[in-house]
Formats: sequence, C-alpha cells, structure tokens
Amino acid sequence: MALIVLTSASGSPGVTATALGLALTWARPVLLVEADPTGGSSILAGYLRGRTAPTDSLIELALAHREGRLGEALAQATIGIEGTEVSLLPGTRSHTQARALAPLWQPLTAVLKGLERTGQDVIVDAGRLGLAGWPEPLLYAADLCLITTRSDLVSLSGARSWAETLRAGFESVGGASSLGLLMVGQGEPYGPREVRKVLQVPVTATVAWDEPAARVFAKGGPAPRRFDSCVLVRSLKAARAGIETAVAAGRAELPAPAAGRPM
Ligand SMILES: Nc1ncnc2c1ncn2[C@@H]1O[C@H](COP(=O)(O)OP(=O)(O)OP(=O)(O)O)[C@@H](O)[C@H]1O
Ligand SMILES: [Mg+2]
Repeated sequence: MALIVLTSASGSPGVTATALGLALTWARPVLLVEADPTGGSSILAGYLRGRTAPTDSLIELALAHREGRLGEALAQATIGIEGTEVSLLPGTRSHTQARALAPLWQPLTAVLKGLERTGQDVIVDAGRLGLAGWPEPLLYAADLCLITTRSDLVSLSGARSWAETLRAGFESVGGASSLGLLMVGQGEPYGPREVRKVLQVPVTATVAWDEPAARVFAKGGPAPRRFDSCVLVRSLKAARAGIETAVAAGRAELPAPAAGRPM
C-alpha cells in the first residue's frame, strides 16, 4: 500500500511508540524502519528489551549501496519480530554514524517504495526533524509524512515552525496532500480542529492517551490486562484507517501513469 513516515519537531511526543504500535496492529506485512539519527535503537532496547543484540544494519546498507547491491542487502539487514508480520530495520548505533547515512536515504527510498510490489508496507520512525543525518529524502518521497505532536501549547509551539517549513517543502514538490499531523493524546487538552488551525496542516490521525499501554511499545513494559482491546490499541487501529484513507486520497490526486492514459 504505502510508505508512511512519522517524525517530530520536539519533545518526545511518541513517534517510536506510535510507529511500532501501528506496525504491530497493521493489516498487512510491514517493514518498520528506524531512521531516527539520534542513535541507539529504541525498539531493540525498549519493546524487544535488549534481547536482540544491536546491529549495524543501516551502515551495512550504506556499504551495500556503494557496491550496487542495496536491494538484496535489505532483506538480510532486517529482523523479524516474532509472532507478527513485522520486520524491523534497526536504527544506527550512534548519532556519529548517522552522518555516514546521508548518501543512503535517497537510494533506500527507491528500494522501500519498490516493496509495495511484494505486498509489504513501510512505516518509518524518522525521529526529530533536522538532526544531522536525518532522512529528509524519505519524508518528501513518502505517500504520507506525519508530523507527530501532542496537543498542548508547548508541543504546538515547538511544532509550529517545522510545520511551516514542511508545508512549504511539500508544496514546492507538488505533494501538499502527503503532509499530515498525527496527534498523540486527543483532547489533551486541544482537539484536532484547534491543532489544525495552529499548525495549518490537516490532522490525519489521532491516538489516545494511554500511559500503561504506551509503555509496552516505548519501553517493553508489561502488557496491561486486555491489552489487545485497550484504548491505545483501538485508537491505533482507527488511526490506521485514517492513514489508509489519506494515502488513497493522495494517490487519487496523482495524474495517471502515462502508459495507462488513453491515446
Ligand atoms: N499514546 C500515548 N499515551 C501516553 N504516553 C505515551 C503515548 N505515546 C508515547 N507515550 C510516552 O511518551 C514517551 C515518549 O515516547 P516515545 O519514545 O515513543 O517518543 P519519541 O517521540 O519517539 O521520543 P524521542 O524523540 O526521544 O525518540 C514514553 O514514555 C511513552 O511511554
Ligand atoms: Mg523515538
């Protein structure tokens, strides 16, 4: 179906927890890419509780790209999350390595978009906007790039200038409909209408405020009772539907490929 990127301006709003939660509740096989240049895989250390040793997956991919074998190297660089249809491409070990990834993002974007042919969607945790080594090409090539934010004034104030920058950037590449907001904590205190008004970007999806459940995704905390039907998981499923609708709407706006046009 799509390449979906989650990113944030400031304040740890829940990008990793939401990206992982979406991947684990996704309706199709999905590749989850940790492209946060901060370094240190939050998912290996958090949700997977450090049981899987850190990898140099992204650095290996950067080398494979230089040798012209990026496509085949991708499958070997990913880790299956047991009992799920989620494959994980773990993040870089350190922020110092992230700079070396700059030449990787563009070609990796093309390879990730090609996965659609295999029935696999891609969800990217792009971390904070603008850090050294950030995966900017992935954002602009995505079917949907979601600025993840909470709805309080501090978060909105932190996200405001980045929302403006990305809005201008997406408009300049003719992709305005590929930019949206993902709100963590609906009504905590503001709702989608106010948030949209402040950031001038549509709210594509919201996820509920649910600390015990979020700790499972963010830190590998113990699952609360009836986790599968908890508020957060239900809201993630609803968010998935909103994301699918936005991707479909964005694609409907694209001109048909030349080969498919009537003569
Ligand atoms: N929906 C939610 N409800 C309640 N708490 C949440 C929710 N999502 C995330 N959190 C909490 O917010 C904190 C930050 O989450 P997370 O690590 O996912 O954020 P992040 O944006 O990836 O941060 P960073 O910028 O540091 O990578 C964690 O303690 C997590 O449990
Ligand atoms: Mg994170």
